Amino acid sequence: MSAVDPLSVPAAAAGSALAPAREAFATRLGVLLATLGSAVGLGNIWKFPTLTGANGGAAFLCVYLLATFAVALPVMIAELAIGRRARADAVTSFERLAPDGSGRRWRWVGGAGVLAAVLLLAFYSEVAGWVFAYLADAVSGTALSTDAAANAARFGALSADPLRALGWQWLVLAGTALILACGVTRGIEAVTRRLMPVLFLLLALLAVRALLLPGAAEGLKFLFAPDFSKLTAGVVLTALGLAFFKLSLGIGAMVTYGSYFRADQDIPRTALRVMLADLSVSLLAGIAIFPAVFSFGVEPSAGPALVFMTLPAVFAQLPFGGLLLALFFALMAIAATGAMLSILEVPVAWLVQRGWPRPRAALLATLAVALPGVPAALSQGVLADATLFGRTAFELYDFASSGVLMPLVAIATALFVGRAWTRTQFADALGGTVGRPSRLAFALRVLLRWVAPVAIAVVLVRGWIG
Ligand code: ALA
Repeated sequence: MSAVDPLSVPAAAAGSALAPAREAFATRLGVLLATLGSAVGLGNIWKFPTLTGANGGAAFLCVYLLATFAVALPVMIAELAIGRRARADAVTSFERLAPDGSGRRWRWVGGAGVLAAVLLLAFYSEVAGWVFAYLADAVSGTALSTDAAANAARFGALSADPLRALGWQWLVLAGTALILACGVTRGIEAVTRRLMPVLFLLLALLAVRALLLPGAAEGLKFLFAPDFSKLTAGVVLTALGLAFFKLSLGIGAMVTYGSYFRADQDIPRTALRVMLADLSVSLLAGIAIFPAVFSFGVEPSAGPALVFMTLPAVFAQLPFGGLLLALFFALMAIAATGAMLSILEVPVAWLVQRGWPRPRAALLATLAVALPGVPAALSQGVLADATLFGRTAFELYDFASSGVLMPLVAIATALFVGRAWTRTQFADALGGTVGRPSRLAFALRVLLRWVAPVAIAVVLVRGWIG
């Protein structure tokens, strides 16, 4: 360890000379809802329920929970602790807290996180754009059709039309930037505090409606019936990847949000609450979707097909289907907004740390995402055949962020906290009720030193070799 303990840098002194008055979340509830807003995203609706149903239901859930508790949750806690301790953006945080003389070496971890956030958002914002386009259509009553072919054609017309695809992507990015320009408290915290309760309300409403449908049991069976025969090595790895994506790890988001945490926030407790609330959203989303899908005898699909083709057809057959579809897309839009705020905040915080006024930082970060976002938006249409290593821009960004950068950053983060910090320093960085060396801090440290790096490395290599 360094002679001068980097972790002893007082929070107030940790602010950059260029950005002395660092913003922070104002309330504990605000911290919780903003962090939950980052975790709850499009992944809760089109990834989690389908993966759970297709990979063994409750059996998959057990593996998912194990992967979360043993690997994802410790890494989330580590990221939040790094951010809160350094009170800086992702790059500066690693540099500032690294043992003496190794700041430059560790800085790349934060830098890779920022790059992962930009690449992730370059395609995530396109999907969010489709969601907002469908929300507008659903509100105007034009998104419903019982005809599967008509729904596929409608989605194709949106995603392949360069003007509409780019227009919606830029609109959602501009909206996200506008919120971020208002600041951490008046932007991120104010918006997520209002939106997250609405999200839960919409979800509960849609779940109850779905449960009242005849044949709902079939959907619940698909989602929850345990089938341990489906648990292969590949499924275990899928569960770990999903746990990472769900908690927005490896993209600098949790380091950045951690830097806005209150000094008295208990990090492990907050992370656990966020994880459990995020899991509830995913399960409720499954309960809202699959009973409806099964009661109309439709094959459960995944990803865009499920959301943009299957569900409109299902809702079209329900009384008040137009209203329900509008509520469903409102739910998706809220989920996408909370996640995008945290992802775009990563490069924004980096720029603010370097002296940029927040509104200008939001504008520049948005341009940095919108530029690589162009080929991603066009990859369903005019650039569908433009591939590199057999992947469209959309797929390439997905692979580069989720398949390469995020796992690498997560491994480095686990090693950084698990090995470069002493046990006392780690317990100290957690704060709240932990506050001193404890059994919890000891267990978390073991997971970060050994379990997380090995497990993530296995996922990484497995993902590369296919
Ligand atoms: N955690 C975010 C999601 O699930 C990225 O979509």
